[in-house]
Amino acid sequence: MLVSTKEMLTKAKAGKYAVGQFNINNLEWTKAILLTAEELKSPVILGVSEGAGKYMCGYKTIVGMVNGMLEELNITVPVALHLDHGSYEGCYKCIEAGFSSVMFDGSHYPIEENVAKTKELVAVCADKGLSLEAEVGAIGGEEDGVVGAGECADPDECKMIADLGVTMLAAGIGNIHGKYPANWQGLSFDTLDAIQQKTGDMPLVLHGGTGIPSDMIKKAISLGVAKINVNTECQLAFSAATRKYIEAGKDLEGKGFDPRKVLAPGVEAIKATVKEKMELFGSVNKA
Ligand code: 13P
Repeated sequence: MLVSTKEMLTKAKAGKYAVGQFNINNLEWTKAILLTAEELKSPVILGVSEGAGKYMCGYKTIVGMVNGMLEELNITVPVALHLDHGSYEGCYKCIEAGFSSVMFDGSHYPIEENVAKTKELVAVCADKGLSLEAEVGAIGGEEDGVVGAGECADPDECKMIADLGVTMLAAGIGNIHGKYPANWQGLSFDTLDAIQQKTGDMPLVLHGGTGIPSDMIKKAISLGVAKINVNTECQLAFSAATRKYIEAGKDLEGKGFDPRKVLAPGVEAIKATVKEKMELFGSVNKA
């Protein structure tokens, strides 16, 4: 059964580790992530962007697929199905479809409007036992066509949103989605420290987990980050492994063209990436 992120993140924040959110794109992605979480006895959050939601034929299709896998693969670790960077309307659609967690990304609204919409969703999610992530300070890079500049969140605004009763809070600290440019300044730990001081026990979320050096990840966790989002890194691993299979001409040998064979190296590459991240984040054996 899907669970909200509330308990897993409260434990992670108290235990000074982070739970990974891995974004899914299809059946192979979902299966690879769930099997790895089960093998490592780690809690896990499956992230779905609105674009990926459309690609996978809608939120109801995704809920059906994930619930089916939890049962058929005998998954016993805590799993949350979470809308990533949701719009106001998207949150309601996912709540209705059976997601166990949503992110309302109101970071592009004026703070008053972000507060009003977040407040409304806090009440709806509380009523249904779902977790809610809010965002302050846009995360840089491109996410479904929306480009942010990688700004640092205002700690007072973070406190204002945290006090509304959200489950977890994403705050920009110089992080960006996708690959980091060569001249990236790194994470702003001063900002993170100030946010954690103002928001206390609130689990903080680090977006843009791809390509952040291990020492920065560990420091971020020590300063209150309890959820780390990873998307691009699984995509890079999947496509590199698939490229290798095709370039080696394996699809031309015997029944190598069978999609189950073509996609297998990519699935293994996602599993390896997820394993590496769970070990780095410290969530292994925390289920
Ligand atoms: P990356 O694609 O940089 O790993 O970011 C993922 C993310 O933050 C999803 O919200």
